[in-house]
Amino acid sequence: MKTIAIVNNKGGVGKTTSAQNIAAAFAKGKKRVLLIDLDAQASLTKCFGLDLSKVQFNSGDFILGQKKAQEVIVKTGNLDLMCSDTQLLAREENIKSTPNFPMNLKKALKDLKSDYDLVILDCPPALGGLTKVALVGCDYYFIPLQAEFLSYEGLKNFMHYVNQIQDINPDMVFGGVFATRFNPKIKTVLSKKLIENAKEQLGDKLLDTYIRTNIALSEAQALGKDIFEYDADCNGANDYYELSKEIFQIISK
Ligand SMILES: Nc1ncnc2c1ncn2[C@@H]1O[C@H](COP(=O)(O)OP(=O)(O)OP(=O)(O)O)[C@@H](O)[C@H]1O
Ligand SMILES: [Mg+2]
Repeated sequence: MKTIAIVNNKGGVGKTTSAQNIAAAFAKGKKRVLLIDLDAQASLTKCFGLDLSKVQFNSGDFILGQKKAQEVIVKTGNLDLMCSDTQLLAREENIKSTPNFPMNLKKALKDLKSDYDLVILDCPPALGGLTKVALVGCDYYFIPLQAEFLSYEGLKNFMHYVNQIQDINPDMVFGGVFATRFNPKIKTVLSKKLIENAKEQLGDKLLDTYIRTNIALSEAQALGKDIFEYDADCNGANDYYELSKEIFQIISK
């Protein structure tokens, strides 16, 4: 079992969309996938069309060890989901005050080792307690960045934070940065320059796959579907398929 965190403290960069569709791509490839929504905004949970008022237990209950995985997991098509809801904020405070913080998620996931090939963590846009347990609990972390802001400069604070976590979780691997919401229509000198600069700064940590802006990704979410169910031939589906292949190569090394 490999655990990957999709993380960036900047909001709206495509973390949730990426977690959902990377998970869907792996599940289509017959991998056993568990998605965990660690954001009290519950965007990922909503992406599956789930009614939040009917969510019985959230990922925080599992992380705290108060509920077993089987009690929390919701089966959605070909993958499993641990939901979030508004109660997760309160759980985050409980988690932070436990003696084994920030090891909670790492410990909780140990029991699931033989049940899943891949666990994907959707992190909130903050460097709070849940992002910390996610980074401490993961094997790899990947950072989505909006194409216009692709630079190491924009990641400086975040990388500083992650370096501190690396002391707690020395085996954690920086999988890489991938560009989201890339506008292929502005294939001008500017966008070429942007990519060249980003490559210079991020080196081989910049993944080759770019996720293009594609309205179908939002439309699918509004209908509670992943991109492959909604429109398997659109740019969004192609890009997330390619990204998943690239991620698979990285985590299989
Ligand atoms: N490639 C894309 N093309 C078009 N729309 C996109 C794309 N990626 C994400 N979006 C849309 O942008 C919005 C923000 O994306 P998303 O929720 O994935 O970001 P996030 O980083 O998880 O945000 P937050 O920080 O609030 O958790 C959503 O409405 C999503 O549907
Ligand atoms: Mg999100």
